[in-house]
Amino acid sequence: MDEKILIIGSSGQIGTELVIELRKIHGNENVIASDIKTSSEEVMNSGPFEYLDVMDERLLRDIVKRYNISQVYLLAALLSATAEKNIELGWQLNTRSHSHVLDLAKDGLIKKIFWPSSIAVFGPTTPNNAPQHAIMEPNTVYGISKLAGERWNEYYFNKFGVDVRSLRYPGLLGWKAAPGGGTTDYAVDIFYNAIKYGKYTSFIAENTQLPMMHMFDAIRATIQIMQAPANQIKIRSSYNLAGVSFSPKEIAAEISKHITNFEISYNIDYRQDIADSWPSSINDSNAKQDWGWRKKYDLENITKDMIANLQKKL
Ligand code: SER
Repeated sequence: MDEKILIIGSSGQIGTELVIELRKIHGNENVIASDIKTSSEEVMNSGPFEYLDVMDERLLRDIVKRYNISQVYLLAALLSATAEKNIELGWQLNTRSHSHVLDLAKDGLIKKIFWPSSIAVFGPTTPNNAPQHAIMEPNTVYGISKLAGERWNEYYFNKFGVDVRSLRYPGLLGWKAAPGGGTTDYAVDIFYNAIKYGKYTSFIAENTQLPMMHMFDAIRATIQIMQAPANQIKIRSSYNLAGVSFSPKEIAAEISKHITNFEISYNIDYRQDIADSWPSSINDSNAKQDWGWRKKYDLENITKDMIANLQKKL
């Protein structure tokens, strides 16, 4: 059956890359990009784009009906650092957009949903190498909104049979679009600064390890979980997903292999508290068992790929 797919938040870090990959699979005309700001040239020129503020439920429903949408990927959100600065908007946007989309499926308008969760659902009491089923006491607005969302996913699946699928993304590193407002963003900023200036001042402390992943792996995981037969998706809240864990010091050392004389310095800010509340690594054995997830990129490959592509781009 031909799918008609709506990507909400197509201009962000993930959306910019996901739209292109989904258009390759489903055809350009069948993947509708949408956001409150225009997307990359590649996205804008390769298929349909709709202006959509996801808080506007009427417009959302109108677009879904107009295009006869069967699947929604909801990527619009305020990330961890931005949500701490704007508590009300962070909570409203992250939770209301989600219920608008869940209700589309409950009301029979769409068949399948992808909704991203995050390592931010964990908190200071979560044991390290966070298990799938761990103590979850997040202490950030973003983390609280994502944990609430996970509970709603499972609820809508159990009560209304909504086919919603979700991943707890680690920090994502890609070169096509810059992230915005996250705590793990330092690991992308560091490459831009290394290439442009040969130095970087990190807002995260040198030995703080966080779970990270190449965007290529994240997109692959997203498409894989959405394509998996429904009976393989045994967890409907959200799956742990792991790539690699590293600290600012470790990524700086890896960058130094390519950019000689690269210098890192530190100027820690409020985002350190957020980083300290998250586990430094994630156990994703359930994703491996249930739908065959395997990561491809380690720190060495991520670094090579980021530098090679950003050098071309900048
Ligand atoms: N990368 C996100 C952030 O730092 C976590 O999901 O906010």
